[in-house]
Amino acid sequence: MRALTVIPHEQGSLAVTDVPDPQPGDGDLLVDGVAIGVCGTDKEIAAGDYGWKPPGADRLVIGHESLGRVRAAPDGSDFAPGDLVVGVVRRPDPVPCGACAHGQFDMCRNGRYTERGIKELAGYASDAWCVEQDFAVKLDPRLADVGMLLEPTSVVAKAWEQVEKVGQRAWFEPRTALVTGAGPIGLLTALLAVQRGLETHVLDRVTQGPKPQLIQDLGATYHADSVDAVTARVKPDIVIEATGVGELVFAAMAGTSPYGIVCLTGVSPAGRTLEVDAGTLNRDIVLENDAVVGSVNANLGHYQSAADALAGADVEWLKRLISRRVPLARFAEAFASQPDDVKVVITLGGVE
Ligand code: BGC
Repeated sequence: MRALTVIPHEQGSLAVTDVPDPQPGDGDLLVDGVAIGVCGTDKEIAAGDYGWKPPGADRLVIGHESLGRVRAAPDGSDFAPGDLVVGVVRRPDPVPCGACAHGQFDMCRNGRYTERGIKELAGYASDAWCVEQDFAVKLDPRLADVGMLLEPTSVVAKAWEQVEKVGQRAWFEPRTALVTGAGPIGLLTALLAVQRGLETHVLDRVTQGPKPQLIQDLGATYHADSVDAVTARVKPDIVIEATGVGELVFAAMAGTSPYGIVCLTGVSPAGRTLEVDAGTLNRDIVLENDAVVGSVNANLGHYQSAADALAGADVEWLKRLISRRVPLARFAEAFASQPDDVKVVITLGGVE
């Protein structure tokens, strides 16, 4: 069958290659791949900057924002043929560390976790794939066109959980949230902010294209001026940073209300230096009891809350996040960004 594979750390190696058909192990689901979403991590892997192949393999099947339909399920399974499913990305480390032993593999302490499509495990960008039932999430059938948004939403659901847990240190009734970046993560973060009843603001650079209207249609406010001007106006109780751009990260940390919480979700390349007034920043964080927390990946609980969040969202709005659907054979188009792209999706054998 066909799969989208890469030789990690070898730029230009991304290709559709022939791989053996999946052989379900005991308790696995056999799934027809419907689509995968392409994100910044996939682009980094394709550019040769990230990713690890499975031990003993030549190539890594990429794709971690999955969507498929169950072809076969073990007897007595909670899954049935035809169910819409998403595969979880991360697997616990083999030791396991304390966090992984407690099902919190998103919080792995020894870094030996594996990730489908990213780190040492084949991903989901193939015409068919297998997944352990315990690492599969069933989706509302209404999400058939947009289910590949579940994985990024799980990352966002985890970020919101982090904010809420940090907030519980003391009295916490947040009113305003600022999201920096209106890419898929920023838009989905804004969706979950609105679902929480927060006055939601989103900052991005663009003034054209679909983003301003998508934000407005959520009932949130779009801003395209300077981050300092926006934080001064909005005085956010919560900032979720979804760009990884140093200037925004530090401006967010400096620009919260007292008891502000900043959650960082953007992965930035190393080596970008910046001059900061560390004295003022430290003083501000201390005197305001502010908190800054980083957040990556998601565990099963976050996938479930993400599935609930998507099921409660306006599917027509979610569909507008998918800018282009590109068949697997034309994968290169999906990796070439176009100005108005939000989320680009590659369709697999399950639809072609
Ligand atoms: C994925 C996460 C993953 C992270 C680091 C992100 O793109 O969404 O699931 O943990 O990359 O590999």
